[in-house]
Amino acid sequence: MSTAKKDYKKITTKSLIDMKAQGEKISMLTAYDYTMAKIVDSAGIDVILVGDSASNVMAGHETTLPITLDQMIYHASSVVRGADRALVVVDLPFGSYQSDPKEALRSAIRIMKESGGHAVKLEGGKEIKDSIKKILNAGIPVMGHLGLTPQSIYKFGTYTVRAKEEQEALKLIEDAKLLEKLGCFSLVLEKIPAKLAQQIAESISIPVIGIGAGSGVDGQVLVIHDMLGMNNEFSPRFLRRYMNLYEGMTSAISQYVDDVKSKDFPNEKEQY
Ligand code: KIV
Repeated sequence: MSTAKKDYKKITTKSLIDMKAQGEKISMLTAYDYTMAKIVDSAGIDVILVGDSASNVMAGHETTLPITLDQMIYHASSVVRGADRALVVVDLPFGSYQSDPKEALRSAIRIMKESGGHAVKLEGGKEIKDSIKKILNAGIPVMGHLGLTPQSIYKFGTYTVRAKEEQEALKLIEDAKLLEKLGCFSLVLEKIPAKLAQQIAESISIPVIGIGAGSGVDGQVLVIHDMLGMNNEFSPRFLRRYMNLYEGMTSAISQYVDDVKSKDFPNEKEQY
């Protein structure tokens, strides 16, 4: 199977399904604002996820639970303005889809109408199947999310690897098949054993995008702040840091402070 990169003009949900069929891995990163989205998009990313991880990395909350639908719409609309090629997927935040399918649909419609995003992502399987159906029936593409679903962190009580036990692994396989059957266009698997993730990716036709789920899936996603090394505190095993932006930015900023204090900045050429 060829792994060459095809030159898609604009990535659609169909492009992702084609990529899986052709053995081309899907690249996905989060972004939460216009400038970052522009950089990520021009670097050639396939999918930009406006993740509810904005609650952690943008707002400084401990979990993803506090972020609101209005805040997600604000982040997503900024990202959409910066993205020309990538597919923009927007997380439905905690509390905006769990109580009933009608509310889920209203939330998804607000995301699509007010942000211009191209698809929504929801966490969960069988428990939220009616909400997923309702959203899909309205013509809104849905990406699923199983495994370590951070909106359920208080149920799990830990951020450790999920589905190591057979019972949870079996439920995960069932849920993945259900999401495919319902019509989700893809699925994120977070922090589960690589073998299980590969087994799922091979048993369903929709693309499976992993984070901490090994190399046997159809694509990878990371939180942009983590892969750029903007925070030093978060170091899970699955994370590859491509830069140490924390150090780079700290040193640039302290140089600026020194230059201002020492009256080196601005110099003759930097004024009118
Ligand atoms: O919110 C997020 O960033 C996510 C990814 C970790 C998949 O859901």
